[in-house]
Order: sequence, then C-alpha cells, then structure tokens
Amino acid sequence: MIKLDIQNAASFLPAGAVDSLAPRAAEANLALENGTCPGNDFLGWLHLPSSLTPEFLADIRQTAATLRENCDAIVVAGIGGSYLGARAVIEALSDSFEWLSRDGSNPAILFAGNNIGEDYLSELTRYLEGRRFGVINISKSGTTTETALAFRLLKKQCEQQRGLDMARRVIVAITDASKGAARITADKEGYKSYIIPDNVGGRFSVLTPVGLLPIACAGFDIDALVQGARDMEQATGIDVPFAENPAALYAATRNALYAAGKKIEILANYQPKLHSMNEWWKQLYGESEGKGGKGIFPAAVDLTTDLHSMGQWIQEGERTIFETVISVAAPRHTLLFPHDDENLDGLNFLEGRRVDEVNKMAELGTRLAHVDGGVPNLRIVIDALDEYHIGALIYFFERGCGISGLLLGVNPFDQPGVEAYKRNMFALLGKPGYEAETAAIQARL
Ligand code: PA5
Repeated sequence: MIKLDIQNAASFLPAGAVDSLAPRAAEANLALENGTCPGNDFLGWLHLPSSLTPEFLADIRQTAATLRENCDAIVVAGIGGSYLGARAVIEALSDSFEWLSRDGSNPAILFAGNNIGEDYLSELTRYLEGRRFGVINISKSGTTTETALAFRLLKKQCEQQRGLDMARRVIVAITDASKGAARITADKEGYKSYIIPDNVGGRFSVLTPVGLLPIACAGFDIDALVQGARDMEQATGIDVPFAENPAALYAATRNALYAAGKKIEILANYQPKLHSMNEWWKQLYGESEGKGGKGIFPAAVDLTTDLHSMGQWIQEGERTIFETVISVAAPRHTLLFPHDDENLDGLNFLEGRRVDEVNKMAELGTRLAHVDGGVPNLRIVIDALDEYHIGALIYFFERGCGISGLLLGVNPFDQPGVEAYKRNMFALLGKPGYEAETAAIQARL
C-alpha cells in the first residue's frame, strides 16, 4: 500500500537510534489498542475503518446521490478537522481543471466556514446566485463561529433561491448527537443529519461522515477509500513487527530526529493535487503534538514549485529541519515531451520521454541535494493517487500520529490551546457572558 524508506534519515542519527525506540513505539501502539493512554476517550478513529458497515456506507452514498441529483454546487461548511480531510481527498482525486470546465457530471464542491473573510463570503454568495446549490454543514461542537457565520448566510440564500422544501432536501448537517446549534437547527428543519462520534476528534474524523459525505458528493468511491484505510489498520496493528509497521517506524524516526535537534518537519509532495493533503497533515500533527512546550513544527511545501521560493532555506538555512517526501509512483495520465524543430529551449533531449520522468529526477536530485545539505529525509511511496491508496495514506498518518504523540509524552487527542483566541475574539466583539474578559482586554489596549 505504501512504502516508507527511512534510510536517509537514520543515517543522520547514531547507529540503532530508531530501533532503540521500537519497544516504546510498541508500548504506545498497545496503549492505543488497549485504551490506556492519555486522551483515551478519543480513540474512536483507531478501528473506525474496520467498523464501518456496508449499510452505513450505502446510506452515505444515498445522501450523496440526492445532493448530486439536485445540486450543481455543494458548499461544505466547516473548519479545521471539519473540512481539511474532505478537501485533501477531493483535491487529490480530482481533475485539476474540471471546476473550470464543468461537464455537468459532478457538482462543484466549494468550501466555506473556514475563514471570516468578508470578500470570500461575499464572492461565494455572489457565485451561488441563481445556481442550484446545497450545503453540508459540519461542526462537531455545532457552535464554531466561522462555520456558524457561513451557514447562517448559506441557509438563508438556499431557502430564498430554492424554496423551503428543496432547501430542506439539499442541506445536510453533520454534528453532535444532541448538543449545539447545528443539531438544534437540523432537528427543527428536518435536515438529513449524521452524528460525529463523541470519541472521534475533528482532525481524526475524515473517515466519518465529515469526510465521507463530501467525498461521495464529489463522485469518488468511498468504499475503496475505506478499504485502503482498513488494510492499513491491519498493517499498523499491534501484532505487526516494528520493522514492518510503517506507522511505528515513522513515529519512531521523527521522534529520534526531534531528540537530535530536528525541530521542524517539512512534508513535501511532487504532485500539486496533494497540496491540501499537506494542510490536513499539518493540522493532524500540529494540533496533536504542539503542546506543553513540545512538538515538531509541521511545515509543508509543494515541489518543485516551492524549490523556487523555499528551496534556498531548506538547502542552507538553520539545520533544524527534516523532510518527509510523499512520492506517487505512477501518475494518472501519460504526457510525452514533443519534438521542436527549432529547439530554442534546448529540451529536445527529452523528446518522447514522460513529464513524470523529469519530475522523478527532480525528486531524486532534490533528495540527494537536501541530504548533502544536512536535511534528513524520509520517503513515503504510494503507487497511485486513487481512493484506495489515499485511504491507506490517511490511516497511516493517523496511526503514526497517535504513536508519535505518545512517544513525545503528550496527549495527542486534545487541543486546549485552540480556545485562547476564541475567548479574546468573543470578548472583543462584546459577546454576552464575556464581560470580565472584555474589561481585562480593554485594560491592556
Ligand atoms: O480537530 C479539531 O478538533 C478542530 O480542528 C475542530 O475540528 C475545529 O475546531 C472545528 O470544530 P467543530 O467541528 O466543533 O466546528
């Protein structure tokens, strides 16, 4: 499913440094399995792939079919873990230009509720004017400001444009079973709704309806996605020896590098379709590990694009980084370099060769250069950008994150720091109940 090569990372560490973490990685994996680790009330993701029933997946496909039949555009309203996974998978699997030349077979999947940009929201509502659109409103807490603000606008517009009855058919809620405004509205309006399990945190929720419904709406095979995740669930289980368990190996290697002073991990891809996968990964690792004054800083680059912006820093900046490359063995299409009689660009030596061959040589050349420049390198190879391999990649990163956070000595499943900005924002906006905070902030300004 995926291959992980740590050779060019281990070579930066004392001999045996990664293997010496094998017992602790196994312990961490076992603690996840037995539910004996910190944050053990948020382990619902661990066996999620193998617990999804055919009936549940069929229901998701049915809801997606209703939305696809009635909508030319579907807006996914959510932030953080409530949208990044869906976006990552949809972009990885989509034709990069289909949205520009819609052929009518797939609705446009748009994202909102992940920012408070007035221009963004104005332009979105303008784009939706006159269009047959629907909304998937995703919020576990059901109270997140960014998402609630966008949903309020979208709900009104949808009802006005499409009428109350149709709006109720094309608005779907994915939220808590009983709490929060999103649940109350869904029940009051009679929307089709799904529950985000209590024991699955936002950033681990892509294989719940949070990710599966938007992905199915975009026309992708959620059964194959889940199958990839299921197979990876097995491949990373407690019975798998350390050297064969990619999640344990990844977790141990990055912790060994961190202990050796490599404080920043750069996730690099060589396929523009993986840009949002980087974003999803950043949240997964950043929110899981960055606490208690600890944590590898998760950064990301799209290559070769960013070699022309960040390449200098990676090659010669402070040597506190390591790099993890996601390499896709086979692209979906074949494109050969054409002959040019004039050969003004001097590229005729590439005539008849695949564009991907150049990309792969850029990747190899970059890896060698970065290793020579003092950047440890891990390499993850997936065979193809399809549902199965993306499902496997997602679960690999999730399990790796759980093991890695425990090796680091943090609770990988909470995010107490996310609340700080919200308290200040509410106080500054004068939200009822925040009077004391408002006064305290005003005294500082
Ligand atoms: O991973 C997380 O828990 C967060 O990123 C949340 O998903 C994000 O803050 C959105 O929260 P909610 O789904 O409650 O609107």
